[in-house]
Amino acid sequence: MDMNHSATNLTLDALKSVVSQALLGKFTAVFPKLFKCQWKTYEGQKKLYANFSKDSVSNMSGRKFCVGGNWKMNGDQKSIAEICKVLSDAQLDPNTDVVIGCPAIYLMFARNLLPCSIGVAGQNAYKVAKGAFTGEISPAMLKDVGADWVILGHSERRAIFKESDELIAEKAEHALAEGLKVIACIGETLEEREAGKTNEVVARQMCAYAKKIRDWTNVVVAYEPVWAIGTGKTATPDQAQEVHAFLRQWLTENISKEVSNSLRIQYGGSVTAANAKELAKKPDIDGFLVGGASLKPEFVDIVNARK
Ligand code: PGA
Repeated sequence: MDMNHSATNLTLDALKSVVSQALLGKFTAVFPKLFKCQWKTYEGQKKLYANFSKDSVSNMSGRKFCVGGNWKMNGDQKSIAEICKVLSDAQLDPNTDVVIGCPAIYLMFARNLLPCSIGVAGQNAYKVAKGAFTGEISPAMLKDVGADWVILGHSERRAIFKESDELIAEKAEHALAEGLKVIACIGETLEEREAGKTNEVVARQMCAYAKKIRDWTNVVVAYEPVWAIGTGKTATPDQAQEVHAFLRQWLTENISKEVSNSLRIQYGGSVTAANAKELAKKPDIDGFLVGGASLKPEFVDIVNARK
């Protein structure tokens, strides 16, 4: 009797779900005319989609928050030991991936001091495994000393060391093939933003990555407007969200809906404990890449921005 009863309930539930899906999901497709005013124009479609993504998808994106610290060329054994102690003692949100981008020479040192729940990243790696490339470090070497991530394409590599989109993409391809996870950086300069070229620039940088990356599972994209890096001039949450939403649309159109939904996009550029919470509320911001503040105890609050 009980079994019959629960079987009936199951059937009823299944029926309810089919009917509600048909009503909710397929309604616009089945009765497009009812939505004519909004669906008639591309603008209308975009508005509907924007509302949909705000209301329904944002808080259940399923993308795990991911915060990277980029120590750049800073620190020595003493100060690195101190930061590692702060991070080891802290209560870090278990729902956030944490990665520390450490100068290569201190990678093993930091790895040994940090809990294994915190990942360690190189800040650069060359595009081949070994050979006559004086001064370079390969993904295989990073892995050998305990790193599991690498930051590639940072604006300082692009601007100071003249790394091209193509070289960065080749580095990403090789690092992924070697089993490292990649934080792939992109971002426009102030000049490019003021010329209204932000979307064009980030799309070009994404295109270069897309030519070399087949599987995006181990990639996190870091959108870092160059004018916000190290300047104390953070993008507003709306400015950042606008570019992140554009990137998701670009991914849908150029890679796939699945990658667009699952790829994590960090924001970077003067993130501090004071602005992280507001930025973290935006639906397409899935974490941060943090420079200056990652050298200070406030990094803990940034990691916990969604807590
Ligand atoms: P910033 O640096 O947080 O000091 O602005 C960010 C970065 O370069 O990744």
